Amino acid sequence: MIESSDPPVVAIDGPGGSGKGSVSGRLARKLGFHLLDSGALYRLTALAARQAGVDLGNVAAVADLAAGLDARFEAGAENEPARVLLAGRDVDDAVRSESCGNDASVVAAYPEVRRALIGCQRAFRRPPGLVADGRDMGTLVFPDARVKIFLTATPEERARRRHKQLIAKGINGNLAALVREIETRDERDRNRAVAPLKPADDAVVVDTSGHDIDSVFKRVVDIVTSSGLLDPRR
Ligand code: C5P
Repeated sequence: MIESSDPPVVAIDGPGGSGKGSVSGRLARKLGFHLLDSGALYRLTALAARQAGVDLGNVAAVADLAAGLDARFEAGAENEPARVLLAGRDVDDAVRSESCGNDASVVAAYPEVRRALIGCQRAFRRPPGLVADGRDMGTLVFPDARVKIFLTATPEERARRRHKQLIAKGINGNLAALVREIETRDERDRNRAVAPLKPADDAVVVDTSGHDIDSVFKRVVDIVTSSGLLDPRR
């Protein structure tokens, strides 16, 4: 049962590469709120299945792993995202890989897995508040969020951003292959029967194509400020 006195939530949803990860991290720091990277929980579930040799098609076994997930987030260096730990081991690099993202989108389509992860996601809602980054934060996990923002960008732009990130990490990604992967993942996320990727009816949709992260962040801060969660002088 969600009480109106529950800590406020800012839901930031959208497809991968829309900028929601960077925006959510910066916003959580600015507000002094907790941060939920819900995609990491789906990625960890997929990784745990791979590590245990469980077939991703074995829904019951994958849902069991999701229910017992020993996930922890450890604060990263200044302006870096939190690092992800599975059973106490730093698995951040494995979890952020393209293949793990694709595996995550397969297991995320199972209602049993989504159900198993919902309590864990809601437990991140603690005072003074939460910035929740995902696909269904504003629609299903926190339908009473104070602010709902849906970030989008064209697949080509998202692939270019991802390509730049990979190069910065010294990994040589293929741009055309990234566009194809992004389109396949979007297709699966949008068309699944449970929690399909779509903006909540009361979300503000922000198209980030052609905008750098600073201008997107400024727009998001304006939206949060007009909700009353942020003092306009800050
Ligand atoms: O955001 P990220 O790329 O880490 O998410 C990986 C995958 O996890 C997504 O493609 C999506 O299928 C799934 N996901 C989800 N619901 C969320 C967050 C992520 O279905 N709230």
